Amino acid sequence: MDDARYLEFWPDWEAGMAFFASATLAALGVLARRFAWRTESAAGTSTSLGSVVRQFIDRLFLLHERVYDQIAGVHPHRRPWHLQWLSVKDIYSHLHPRLTALDGDVLDVGCFRKPFAPWLKHARRHIGVDVWPGEFVDHVIRDGERWPIETGSFESVLCTQVLQVVRDVPHLIDEVDRILVPGGTALITVPFCYNDQSTRGERGIYRDYWRFSVHGVQEVVGRRLTIQEVIPLGGAGSTGGVLVLNWIYLSLSGTSATRVLLMLMLPLWLLFCWAVNTIGWLVDKLDRTGIFYHGVFLVARKPVGPSGDSASAV
Ligand SMILES: C[S@@+](CC[C@H](N)C(=O)[O-])C[C@H]1O[C@@H](n2cnc3c(N)ncnc32)[C@H](O)[C@@H]1O
Repeated sequence: MDDARYLEFWPDWEAGMAFFASATLAALGVLARRFAWRTESAAGTSTSLGSVVRQFIDRLFLLHERVYDQIAGVHPHRRPWHLQWLSVKDIYSHLHPRLTALDGDVLDVGCFRKPFAPWLKHARRHIGVDVWPGEFVDHVIRDGERWPIETGSFESVLCTQVLQVVRDVPHLIDEVDRILVPGGTALITVPFCYNDQSTRGERGIYRDYWRFSVHGVQEVVGRRLTIQEVIPLGGAGSTGGVLVLNWIYLSLSGTSATRVLLMLMLPLWLLFCWAVNTIGWLVDKLDRTGIFYHGVFLVARKPVGPSGDSASAV
């Protein structure tokens, strides 16, 4: 094929494919909406074609999630082709050596599913508190209220990616200080540059209130505890990369038709995430500004001695 014919043929082929893909997606969208309407109007008759199709699609989505988890890994073992790798790689690298070395009793604040439990191999007890009940939650607590935990009873506190969704952050830090033994350690991570995660899900309304710079988190934690280490996480590459990937993913997750598209493009999506993650990782290496971090890791200690003890006697 000479150049001129090639140029003529290529746009036609592309346009045809684009037309076919849009027509299929539009048809899927219309069908999904009609089925949903019929299902709603026939409330109680769960055997309508609409509900069968809905159930089938839901199962496909579930299967897709499982396949994705198998290939890309789950928290805290996300692989470099996972959509969220850039936002967790630095959290993992700072937490892993510290958590595997922890002994004594550990309180996991905002534990959700206790994702870091496999790393707490030497902990005597790993107790989880959260505002929502769940399989892994040992005590349900309420924002702004005293926790059902004895004063001075834990050697360590783990609080990862929680402070941003807590309405009364100073109260949480007061409680951390109260339940720690003098000399006890708190390991805290917070996001600084990340999209709003507020949502209404199966666990209820979830509000994302705050973002913390290295100074902000020191200010709020340092009221009660002695700051030992403050480490900005990532750089311009991971901050930019994860926002781009989240934006594409969340935009495509909006409707069933676009979710089907995402599902069909899984190999391409994994490859794309891997490429963005690699570029992000490289840019992080080159970024010398120190101000484009996406989160902060902080280690703080409860003071030993009269001042620390009296501060904790709430
Ligand atoms: C982003 S998740 C982090 C879960 C887990 N720590 C991790 O690193 O994967 C935030 C968790 O904080 C919990 N949470 C919200 N408000 C809280 C509060 N006031 N006290 C303790 N946990 C809270 C949420 O229910 C949720 O499980």
